[in-house]
Amino acid sequence: MTAILAVDQGTSGTKALVHDGERTLSVVEVPVRPAYLDGGRVEVDPLDLLASVRQAGTRALREAGDPPLAAVSLANQGESVLAWDPATGRPLSTVLVWQDGRAQDICADLGEHGELVRRRTGLMLDPYFSAPKMAWLRRHATREGVVTTTDSWLVHQLTGAFVTDATTASRSLLLDLDEVAWDPELLALFGLDDEALPRVVRCDEVVGGTSMFGRSGAEIPVAGLVVDQQAALVAERCLDPGMVKCTYGTGAFLLGAMGERAVRSTRGLTSSLAWSLRKSTGYCLDGQVYTAGSAVRWLVDLGLLSAPDALDAESAGDSGGACFVPGLAGLAQPWWNPKPCGAFTGLGLATTRGRLVRAVVEGLAAQVATLAQAMSADVGVPLTRLRVDGGLTRSHALMQAQADLLQVPVDVYPSPHATALGTAALARLALDDELSLPAAIDEWSPAMSFEPIWTEQRASEAMARWEQAARCAAARKDNA
Ligand code: G3P
Repeated sequence: MTAILAVDQGTSGTKALVHDGERTLSVVEVPVRPAYLDGGRVEVDPLDLLASVRQAGTRALREAGDPPLAAVSLANQGESVLAWDPATGRPLSTVLVWQDGRAQDICADLGEHGELVRRRTGLMLDPYFSAPKMAWLRRHATREGVVTTTDSWLVHQLTGAFVTDATTASRSLLLDLDEVAWDPELLALFGLDDEALPRVVRCDEVVGGTSMFGRSGAEIPVAGLVVDQQAALVAERCLDPGMVKCTYGTGAFLLGAMGERAVRSTRGLTSSLAWSLRKSTGYCLDGQVYTAGSAVRWLVDLGLLSAPDALDAESAGDSGGACFVPGLAGLAQPWWNPKPCGAFTGLGLATTRGRLVRAVVEGLAAQVATLAQAMSADVGVPLTRLRVDGGLTRSHALMQAQADLLQVPVDVYPSPHATALGTAALARLALDDELSLPAAIDEWSPAMSFEPIWTEQRASEAMARWEQAARCAAARKDNA
């Protein structure tokens, strides 16, 4: 079978994976380090992103032995934006990463339209999403060129096309979620009504061809465009309504499949396209922890942890009453406070470094647990198991804390590359009219499962303590 080059362009790096339909032949990761600046600003150089895609893809192909390629697929960060020149492809601004909070004033000014925005888009008026950051670039950076999410720019670099896929468009605050079309009223609200907009394409659409990865001969079709979280949802086979996964990457993202109609959350979760295919459209609910891997990296930078993968070795067995709220880039559901509001609480003279690390582990798990509880309440059915993937699932301490605080078993996806495998499946759909979504995705069984060990009472006491800490942290509006 011919191979797919699947590219996962994430916040902290680009991963390229070559998959031949049965096996993964190679994986190459090229790190990218965003700059974390005062005022909640998070930026990255677009040329670093592009170089990471080019390098990761070229090296992955070489390491796979240069197999015949059927397609190149691409997952993107979802809500990171930049300005660029469509004539030359040259960037006209830095990339404002999804964690960037500088557009909070733009959201505050539009506050009275929050309900309209929520109804129309399924999302909240928050600088996490693309449109406020696009509006910020227009007001403060440049009036030239186009402003888009990073996928449109990268696909333009790959193929010359000017497109975005429907899942990415559904993270923008500019898409009518039910119609799957740009919404003129919302565009006007953000002052973006004169913008040239990329064509919204399906995830299983061939959008052009590329020769970026040093292949001679015909260009390779580019297909399988999707947000990284949605790609992982697909790879984890969360296809039926109510099936939920969490990906622990730079942030942690809980997504639940919701079927063919967009639902609106009653608990402050957000609603998006899960996939848009020739044969079907799927919607999902999602909840966000803005800093997961970022919080672990922050511990390392502060000297509280020796390396990201030392979480288990250096975490104490208990936090001694310390709590951590992962609001380092603001808090989403249910608080929606865009200002940095991370917090340690309950510290005492007996708090050690290991206990702080433990508090971070439990704080991440507790925030995911609140999202999962909100999801269950929205769906009306209790969650019975949680599927998980992403780099931090390597931490047994975190996975055990997740099972304990959520009081359901946690099943770890067997590959660390769910996102890339999800995009590869979508690209295969683009190449084969007969293939169905379930048939395009590998069956899987968990590499490990974590059963709850804590009693229900211990879990609910810990959750109540954490929620109290989170409420206090979220109530702070005076941070930088
Ligand atoms: O919404 C942002 C998210 O999709 C980024 O994912 O993997 O870079 O944490 P990741």
